[in-house]
Amino acid sequence: MAVPGAGIMGSSLSVCVMMVLLIMFSGWVLVAESAIGVNWGTVSFHKLKPSTVVDLLKDNNIQKVKLFEADPLVLRALVGSGIQVMVGIPNEMLATLSSSPAAADLWIRQNVSAYMGKGGADIRYIAVGNEPFLTSYAGQFQSYVVPAMVNLQQSLARANLAGYIKLVVPCNADAYESNVPSQGAFRPELTQIMTQLVSFLNSNGSPFVVNIYPFLSLYQNSDFPQDYAFFEGSTHPVIDGANTYYNAFDGNLDTLVAALSKLGYGQMPIVIGEVGWPTDGAIAANLTAARVFSQGLIDRVVGDKGTPLRPGVPPMDVYLFSLLDEGAKSTLPGSFERHWGIFSFDGQAKYPLDLGLGNKKLKNARNVEYLPARWCVANPYRDLSDVANHMKIACNVADCTTLEYGGSCNGIGEKGNISYAFNSFYQLQMQNEKSCNFDGLGMITFLDPSVGQCKFLVGVTDTSSSLRPYQRESSSIDIISKQIDRLYLGGEHLVQMLQDENR
Ligand SMILES: *[C@@H]1O[C@H](CO)[C@@H](O)[C@H](O)[C@H]1NC(C)=O
Ligand SMILES: *[C@@H]1O[C@H](CO)[C@@H](O)[C@H](O)[C@H]1NC(C)=O
Ligand SMILES: *[C@@H]1O[C@H](CO)[C@@H](O)[C@H](O)[C@H]1NC(C)=O
Repeated sequence: MAVPGAGIMGSSLSVCVMMVLLIMFSGWVLVAESAIGVNWGTVSFHKLKPSTVVDLLKDNNIQKVKLFEADPLVLRALVGSGIQVMVGIPNEMLATLSSSPAAADLWIRQNVSAYMGKGGADIRYIAVGNEPFLTSYAGQFQSYVVPAMVNLQQSLARANLAGYIKLVVPCNADAYESNVPSQGAFRPELTQIMTQLVSFLNSNGSPFVVNIYPFLSLYQNSDFPQDYAFFEGSTHPVIDGANTYYNAFDGNLDTLVAALSKLGYGQMPIVIGEVGWPTDGAIAANLTAARVFSQGLIDRVVGDKGTPLRPGVPPMDVYLFSLLDEGAKSTLPGSFERHWGIFSFDGQAKYPLDLGLGNKKLKNARNVEYLPARWCVANPYRDLSDVANHMKIACNVADCTTLEYGGSCNGIGEKGNISYAFNSFYQLQMQNEKSCNFDGLGMITFLDPSVGQCKFLVGVTDTSSSLRPYQRESSSIDIISKQIDRLYLGGEHLVQMLQDENR
C-alpha cells in the first residue's frame, strides 16, 4: 500500500487514509444491513428519568431511536449519547407548518438546531406527522403533509442541515391495499398526494417509512390465520403468481413495494417505523406470542432474507414498537394499547429477546428509583357493595387494562379487581396517603398483593413529568378533574396541575 517515493510522512498518511477507508467501509456495512431501533413513546404516568432510558438504550446497544415529538427532556438526555434520532412532529402542528415558513424555521431552530452541533444530539430524520393518512382521520391532515415538508426542507437548508437530516412521513399500512401483494396500490384518494410525497422523498434520497402490525390484522379479523401473523411458516400461505407468502409482514411489505412500483419508485428504500406485539390486554397479546413474533421478526430482517419482490434487501431500518409500556395511552384501539413495550414501564425486560445487537438477552434498566414498597388494597373489614363508583373513577384516571378480558389480572376475582384499581390510582398519586382512602374502603399494605402473572405495580419516583400524559388528550382533562373533585381524595393539587397542563 506504500505510495512510491513517499517518506515516513507519506506512509503514516496512507495509514490514515486506510483507517478512514476502514471506518467508512464498516459504516457502509452497517447501513447495508437492516438496523434495529426502537420507538420511545412517553405517554406514561410513571416515567423513568430520560437519562435512565438512554442508559437502557446504550446497555442494549440500541443505536437508533424514534421519538413522537421533540420533548426537550428526552432530547437533552440524548445529547452526546451517539444514538441516532428520528424526531416526530405531531399531526396537529402540520397545518401551521404547511402555511408558515416562519413557523417551520422556528420549529427547526427550537427542536433541531438547538440540539445539534459537536457533541450534541444526532438527529438524522424528522418524521413529518404520524400516520397522517390514517383512514380514521377522514383526510383532516393529508393536504398539509407535502406543503409542510416543503417548508421544513427549506428551513433545514437555511440551517445548513439539509445534507444531514432527512424528512420522512411514517405511514400506516392502510394507505395501500390489495388482495395479493403484487397488485398493491395506494388508496385511490391518496394517489395524487402519494405521487408528490414519494417524488419529494426520492429527490432527497429519503426512505418511505411504514408501520406494519400483523397483531392488529389478527385482532381485528377473526378469519385471519393465526400462524400467518408469525414467522414460523403458515398453513395458510398467500399464493401470488410465482410467489408464496408465509407471513403477514412480508406480504404487507411487498404490497407497499408494488404500490411504490406503480408510481415509478419500486426501488425506494423502506424503513419500518413501527412494528411489534403487545403483551397484555387481549388474548393474543401475551408474553409468549410477543416473544415469538419479535424474535421471528428480528431474525428475519437481520438475516437479510428480504421478500419475494426484494430478495436479499430487507428494510433499511426497523423500529420496534415499543421500548416501554405507556400506561396513559388512549385505550380506544383496545386494552392492549398500553402494553406494547419490550420493557415494562419501569424498564424491566418482559421476555428474553436477542436484538441481534450483541447481547443474547435484553438488559434491564439500572438504578430505577421506586417509591417505597407499599400498596393500596380493598379493606377486608369493610362492606364493599358500594365500591363501583370509586372503582370506575380510579380506573378512569389510572390504568386498569390488565383487568380486562385476556389481561394478566382478569382472573383475580372481585376483591382483587377493587384492590388493583385502588393501587393503580394510589401509585399514580405518588402514594399520597389520602389517595388510598376511598371513603374508608381502601387500606395501605406492605405485603405485595401480586398474584401469579398479575403484578400490582409500585410507581417510580420521577415526578417531573408524570402528569404530562394528558397533554394530548386535553378534552378528557375536564372530566377527570371533575371526577377527582367529587371524590375529594386530596386531589386538589392534581386538579390544579391538570388545569395548568390544559393551558
Ligand atoms: C417543538 O416541539 C414541541 C413538541 O412537539 C412543541 O410543543 C413546540 O411547539 C415546538 N416548537 C416550535 C417552535 O414549534
Ligand atoms: C397467546 O397468544 C397466542 C397468539 O395469538 C395464542 O395462540 C395463545 O393462545 C395465547 N396464549 C395464552 C396463554 O393465552
Ligand atoms: C374484574 O373486572 C373485569 C374488568 O372489568 C371484569 O371483566 C371481571 O369480570 C371482574 N371480575 C369479577 C369477579 O368481578
